Amino acid sequence: MSKKVVTLAHYYCQPEIQQMADKVGDSLELSLYAKECGADTIVFAGVRFMAETAKILNPDAEVILPDAGSTCSLVTQTDVGALKAWREAHPDHVHVSYINSSAEHKALSDWIVTSRNVDDIIASLYADGKKVIFSPDRNMGAYLNFQYDYGMPLWSAVCEVHDKFNQSALDEAFASVAGAKYLIAHPESPLPVLQQADYVGSTSGMLNWVKSFDKEADAVIFVATEDGILYNMGLARPDLDIRQAPIYAGCQCNSCPYMKMNTIEAVKRAQAGVGTRIDYLSPEAVDAARLPIERMLEFSKRYYA
Ligand code: 13P
Ligand code: SF4
Repeated sequence: MSKKVVTLAHYYCQPEIQQMADKVGDSLELSLYAKECGADTIVFAGVRFMAETAKILNPDAEVILPDAGSTCSLVTQTDVGALKAWREAHPDHVHVSYINSSAEHKALSDWIVTSRNVDDIIASLYADGKKVIFSPDRNMGAYLNFQYDYGMPLWSAVCEVHDKFNQSALDEAFASVAGAKYLIAHPESPLPVLQQADYVGSTSGMLNWVKSFDKEADAVIFVATEDGILYNMGLARPDLDIRQAPIYAGCQCNSCPYMKMNTIEAVKRAQAGVGTRIDYLSPEAVDAARLPIERMLEFSKRYYA
């Protein structure tokens, strides 16, 4: 019987790569799909933590990352030894970690969250009387603390792409538009940008917001996230004026160098079995990292089914 090869792509991959994929989505959708798709081989056109998550959820499948270098700054800015000490310094807290983290980091976590479910999961923990420490994304944690007054201790790493969005550049861009202007933003962006946003949410959340936007003449929608998703937004709503938010005056391009390592050649090679195999995690590490991810998937099935 021939082996089932499934290719997954994140929205931040270039259009040609998305067109090569069986499934395109945000982190939560891709994790759920990776768990349910029954593939023998998963080619993950995303970044390493996503491919590791797919492996953790499918230990029997072969998971291939097209380019060994496709990491994420939230992972490289986090020293796992220091994280362990930080966690131990907060013994009465629940450790909630963003999915943009290494397998070792996940194993030191009680819950994993994505940008789609982070609000609901943390709200449910506080409703149960728990206290939370949040890692690794400082911007996302600061936004939650600002919105809900949690006062969560935060780890201090950032997404090198989203952290560049900038409020004064946005003010200038807004001033140059005569009609109505809107801002939608990914929660990895800095707090002053998020405070200005009409909507804050995951890549899929922003796409859905655009899809259901009631058209207004001359309205401009600025999007504070990686440029790949502008392709999906343009396909969904060619009638709208959608622009990437600027990172400084005059510049309107912010691109994730790691996502863009998924070139057509690299993905084709991975589909033929040549790439970085996620085969270096020990069974103990996989089991330890799976528990907090499964908690999140169970929660998400209940809330988003
Ligand atoms: P999403 O979970 O919103 O897809 O985000 C993943 C990511 O890496 C954002 O930078
Ligand atoms: Fe990581 Fe930022 Fe790239 Fe997302 S956009 S993969 S958070 S570096």
